[in-house]
Amino acid sequence: APEGARERFDAVIAAGERVEPRDWMPDDYRATLVRQIAQHAHSEIIGMQPEANWITRAPSLKRKAVLIAKVQDEAGHGLYLYSAAETLGVGRAELLDLLHEGRQKYSSIFNYPTLSWADVGTIGWLVDGAAITNQVPLCRCSYGPYARAMVRICKEESFHQRQGFEILHVLAHGTPEQHAMAQESVNRWYWPSLMMFGPPDAESAHSEQSMAYGIKRFSNDELRQRFVDMIVPQADALGLTLPDPELRWNDERGHYDFGPVDWAEFKQVLKGNGPCNRQRLAHRREAHAAGAWVREAAQAHAAKRARRAER
Ligand code: 3HC
Repeated sequence: APEGARERFDAVIAAGERVEPRDWMPDDYRATLVRQIAQHAHSEIIGMQPEANWITRAPSLKRKAVLIAKVQDEAGHGLYLYSAAETLGVGRAELLDLLHEGRQKYSSIFNYPTLSWADVGTIGWLVDGAAITNQVPLCRCSYGPYARAMVRICKEESFHQRQGFEILHVLAHGTPEQHAMAQESVNRWYWPSLMMFGPPDAESAHSEQSMAYGIKRFSNDELRQRFVDMIVPQADALGLTLPDPELRWNDERGHYDFGPVDWAEFKQVLKGNGPCNRQRLAHRREAHAAGAWVREAAQAHAAKRARRAER
């Protein structure tokens, strides 16, 4: 490292200021950011699949239009995040290869199927709600491009969460069949949404370093708890229950106690044995192959323009 570079970096982190792409940074800071930002971007892109499953089956033109807008937003979030990763010197082609080869992860939550229309509401309310709980602190992450990408992503996620809540509110206050569909959906997505925050702190490989580097501002368990405290009153407002018999307010802690998460299931999903892992990756690989002609055409066009510019 150049003379004084490490001290300057440490001073920026200690002061809660921003590291920018041209600044010197430790290799492991760069590496853990590429790891997290790439997997965040992969999550957004893969996350389009479960939601898109209902675009052709939405119950009204309004719901269809909102869902199309949401899926397009997720694609945009992915592209933002691949761009943030590129400021660290890694191109999206390489990151997508790592995803396709199963050498980089995406959020476990997207390996579950969307079996009913109510799932579109539940994904908005719980999955995007969990994503917001995790992403708001990332707006203050020490790496500038990542933190700035989060500001706009959080604004759009808030719309995603609101439209999901509204879908569930209509269903839960509709016919008995609609209420039952909403409740059945929440029953399926509650526990997987708690897994989105990562393993328990005691088993988190990266938390200590990420918190020291000002990347992770709150631990996995802290954000999971914050999420549970947020959704319990929201479930009441919806007139729906959460499938957790141990859920109860703990006055001493000032938080809701909740039941044990099935970490064996979480580990299986991360190993690739979740309900939809194979389907999600196969679809992603096919989409990538089907889009090759667009990439080649864009590169040919760019080369032609570059040649013309040289004349
Ligand atoms: N799904 C898949 N992998 C997970 C995971 C999950 N829910 N939770 C943890 N992991 C992986 C980690 O990536 C790490 O594996 P790796 O070394 O191969 O990367 C391992 O499990 C150990 O977990 P750690 O707690 O040590 O890892 P982190 O410190 O990275 O914490 C995290 C995990 C909280 C997810 C953190 O990476 C993070 O905040 N990432 C950014 C947020 C993100 O990725 N969100 C995706 C949500 S979905 C989404 O955004 C789409 C929205 O529009 C709906």
